[in-house]
Amino acid sequence: MIVKEGKAEIRVDEGVFYNPEMEFCRDFSSLALGAVCQKGLVVLDGMCASGIRGVRYALENEKIGEVTFVDLDSKACKNASYNAKKNNLGSYKVENTEITRFLWENPFDFLEIDPFGTPVPYLVPAIRSAAMQGGGILSATATDVAVLCGAHYKACLKNYQSRPVDNECCHENGTRILIGKVARTASEYNLGVHPIASLSRQHFIKTFIKFERGAEKAVSSIKKLGFISYCPKCLWRGTSSLVVKEKCECGGQLQHAGPLWLGELHEKKELESMKKENEKREYASMAAMHSLLEKMSGEIGMPAGYFDLHKVSEVLKVSAEKVDCVLESLSKKGFAAIRTHFRENSIKTNAGITEVKEAFLNSSRKR
Ligand SMILES: C[S@@+](CC[C@H](N)C(=O)[O-])C[C@H]1O[C@@H](n2cnc3c(N)ncnc32)[C@H](O)[C@@H]1O
Ligand SMILES: [Zn+2]
Repeated sequence: MIVKEGKAEIRVDEGVFYNPEMEFCRDFSSLALGAVCQKGLVVLDGMCASGIRGVRYALENEKIGEVTFVDLDSKACKNASYNAKKNNLGSYKVENTEITRFLWENPFDFLEIDPFGTPVPYLVPAIRSAAMQGGGILSATATDVAVLCGAHYKACLKNYQSRPVDNECCHENGTRILIGKVARTASEYNLGVHPIASLSRQHFIKTFIKFERGAEKAVSSIKKLGFISYCPKCLWRGTSSLVVKEKCECGGQLQHAGPLWLGELHEKKELESMKKENEKREYASMAAMHSLLEKMSGEIGMPAGYFDLHKVSEVLKVSAEKVDCVLESLSKKGFAAIRTHFRENSIKTNAGITEVKEAFLNSSRKR
């Protein structure tokens, strides 16, 4: 099968994994790499399959020094070699080996870890490889979204040592659980973490994390771990470094997700470069990407979590309100309020649940 994606045209051989639904993720990833790209960047396409990511990264980002393609499957490696050659990649290597073993002795500046399911088994060697370079960037994909979102509670405890909560904020919580796990692992290698861009979409979560060397950087990242508490009865939520209360003021039983990352999910400068780069590239996803990046920019500086307006209407026992009306009502009261990329019909705001309910009721009175 011949596939065209971004600047690449590749062949996908029989039995080699290729998921066309991940094209958007690859567009996003190539933009994120472009935003952090410095001349001579040494890039790993860690679980390359057809090599589509590595090929696109090299074609779409001029400053890349070398790409190394790794896959356990020899068919995938042959396929990636063919695609790299066919697309005239300058400097590249293909290694038919097991990624954790390979990473043990090979440092990289940018590590793409795109496994089936959880990236957890690959974090130690990937972070160690970045540490050998004195920092670096991890691009990790998790497709065990049901685990991170709380549908498989015990698997989340076992793999991420974190408690998920299966509620309307589970995609953001899941993203924060994944980053939290990366932060804890990086800390063991004296690295602090800075998430550059974090995306939750369909059946995957993707995060780009920049590492900074230094014990103090590691400590300050660990201090950003904590819990998100949530009351299913009144929809109150709050964050804390330790869980201190079990009951909400309304009498409801609080649910606690964590430990998870409570810091920022994205960095402004990198999102701005991604937006600029998106205008130049002719991706089919350009308009959707622009809208996504705009929403992500709005998420910077906002508290963790969001309010799903269907949930608010359920709790208030009134009919649903339009997102724009509630946003307008909140901003008239002086609150910051935006849509979130994590969920349709949901808003992030620095207002509390009482003010959100008031804004909701004000909007419905005006109708
Ligand atoms: C989800 S696919 C990668 C998809 C690819 N990155 C893309 O965007 O199309 C996962 C790949 O990892 C390979 N793989 C699985 N376990 C591995 C391991 N321990 N070491 C190296 N490769 C592995 C599989 O053979 C498969 O090709
Ligand atoms: Zn409550």
